[in-house]
Amino acid sequence: MKVIIILSFILSFLYSEEQDNLFITKFEYGAMLYKNPRGIGCNKCHANGKKTIQLAKYQKLNKQNNKLENINIMVPPINIVTFQQFKTKLTADKRDSLIMPTYFLTQDELKSIYFYIKNIKY
Ligand code: HEC
Repeated sequence: MKVIIILSFILSFLYSEEQDNLFITKFEYGAMLYKNPRGIGCNKCHANGKKTIQLAKYQKLNKQNNKLENINIMVPPINIVTFQQFKTKLTADKRDSLIMPTYFLTQDELKSIYFYIKNIKY
């Protein structure tokens, strides 16, 4: 009997230790995925997701009037979109965007990233 009590004590101790080590908040998990979503990090283009950023600008020849046009590639803020818009964008076909890469994120991963960008304080 004593052995069983001691054994279960040790086991419960080990188990709780393991849980502590595995503990990571939803926010931290989202932050991790945002920087490393199995592909180029969202932060590389969107920074903290709160502002409009000019990613690139170039000039293009308009063949109709033979004049140069300025083209600006802008990255929109992503903390103001609804989860539905967010999900639609992240699961859209690559042909939908010239710049945004295609990601293969699960529903849970998308929810975590969304939670993260909605809760960034800086
Ligand atoms: C190479 C640069 C780049 C990377 C990396 C990138 N994005 Fe984007 N993203 C853009 C650009 C540019 C747009 C706007 C043009 C478009 O819709 O394609 C955009 C648009 C979006 C939109 C739509 C915003 C709106 O107003 O409709 C969402 C949501 C988004 N990105 C989320 C993400 C997330 C989440 C990641 C990481 C998993 C990510 N992006 C990675 C460049 C990038």
